Amino acid sequence: MTAPQTDPADLPELPDPAALLADAPRMRDALDRAGWSPAALDDLLGVTARTHLDRDELAPVLRRTRDGSPLSTLARLFVAGVSVPPGAAAAAGVPASWLRPEGDGVTSPVRLQPVSHGGVDVTAPHDPGRAATGVHPEQVLGVGAASLTLAAATPRRNVARTLDLGTGCGVQALFAEDHSATVVATDRNPRAVAFTQLAATLGGVELDSRQGDLLAPVAGETFDLVVSNPPFVVSPGARYTYRDAGLDGDEVCRRLVRDLPSVLAPGGVAVLLVNWLHVEDEDGDARVRSWLEGTGCDGWVVQRELAAPEDYVTAWLRDTDEGPHFDELYDEWVDWFHARRVEAVAFGVLALRRRTSGQAKVVLDEVDQLVAPTWGEEVLDHFARLDALDGDVLDRAWRLRDDVRLHQVAERDDEGWMVESQRLQQSRGLRWTGGTDEHGAALLAACDGTMPLRTLFQLLAVGAGIPEQEAVEQGLPVVQRLVEQGFLVP
Ligand SMILES: C[S@@+](CC[C@H](N)C(=O)[O-])C[C@H]1O[C@@H](n2cnc3c(N)ncnc32)[C@H](O)[C@@H]1O
Repeated sequence: MTAPQTDPADLPELPDPAALLADAPRMRDALDRAGWSPAALDDLLGVTARTHLDRDELAPVLRRTRDGSPLSTLARLFVAGVSVPPGAAAAAGVPASWLRPEGDGVTSPVRLQPVSHGGVDVTAPHDPGRAATGVHPEQVLGVGAASLTLAAATPRRNVARTLDLGTGCGVQALFAEDHSATVVATDRNPRAVAFTQLAATLGGVELDSRQGDLLAPVAGETFDLVVSNPPFVVSPGARYTYRDAGLDGDEVCRRLVRDLPSVLAPGGVAVLLVNWLHVEDEDGDARVRSWLEGTGCDGWVVQRELAAPEDYVTAWLRDTDEGPHFDELYDEWVDWFHARRVEAVAFGVLALRRRTSGQAKVVLDEVDQLVAPTWGEEVLDHFARLDALDGDVLDRAWRLRDDVRLHQVAERDDEGWMVESQRLQQSRGLRWTGGTDEHGAALLAACDGTMPLRTLFQLLAVGAGIPEQEAVEQGLPVVQRLVEQGFLVP
């Protein structure tokens, strides 16, 4: 990228997380003694605190932390990032190595972000500095929306070995530690590796953190679970390590999808966030599908967004608030997309499962609806349902998933309520909805796992007054899609 970049010398100096490691156990004790937890911080600061802080509105947080309690002091230092009297910091047990003088008071060089997800509480240490105050090229960010999107899509069954590639502040590794015997966390940025070590000590857990490019630090090893929120942003340069891989277009995502299978144990699953390009006169879906060909893995692409280049660029420029360079960078970035005839950029979650035998399958779903807050289990169930569809679908006794509800809309006429439309709705996983009719609804009601589908089609044919063959021909593709989407399960 040729547009001027803010000189890192003009940005606030980044702390050295490694220098905080020695006193991290003391810091952990201080957090424990003060009752530090995501819930306690929500109670103290209010659940909208992060929104206020992201908008640089300190007043609501300062007002709620005036009592001088150790938790308030820690919240001021590590969440709001403001100075406190040295005596208050000492009373809260903050080690001197974690403090810097500022005026009459002291501040902390790092931020601590308490996060709760799926019943697991973690604290992610990260660099200070937000878009508004300038983002350093080597900045290690806290937990953001993309981090939580990946966490939500990660299966949480117990596994032996997990890899978190591009670990940043270590948040995915911390969540994975709860259900993995061993977690290896890797990052190209040595500062991220140090932050992850800090995160492990603060959390009282063990993480094997290693520095290196993509899969280099784990070559020759295998994992049961791989999670990655890589620097997937498609941009003309390598402006920020956390965001830009410095490879052309969507190459970093393609490369990961191609290479990750080499570190997946048989049956192992990888879940990663990806961007892929929709280029003029090319099929964007085919592009991402082609990445999976010949990998020996089943693939499930869950597309969550499709953005025009202009919208994509503004969203990412807003994220780093490029200030006076905004317009220049915008033009350069959009021109770059146009020169490559890029029509849209897709964003999604891509899951891989390494096959032990048989033909690999790839499914792409466009998911616009609100999904469940955690749906990692759905990734495993999705692959299990594809396995079940491999067998004879008609001979299997399918079961309606227990979270599925049927919503009916009825209009009253002379004879009473007449059903006008019927809609199936899931409350778990991807929360699919789908229309159905009286025959479909009756068939689904009968799917209790006792009768083979063939028998149900025979009954349906009699009820509808059509030949059995017709019921099967019309109904089978519908049932297959209902299984793919998880309305029906083996
Ligand atoms: C979007 S951040 C994700 C951080 C964290 N895992 C999360 O979910 O919030 C991407 C991370 O990938 C790292 N990274 C960038 N290029 C890399 C590369 N070539 N190999 C390994 N890690 C890389 C960055 O330093 C950054 O920490």
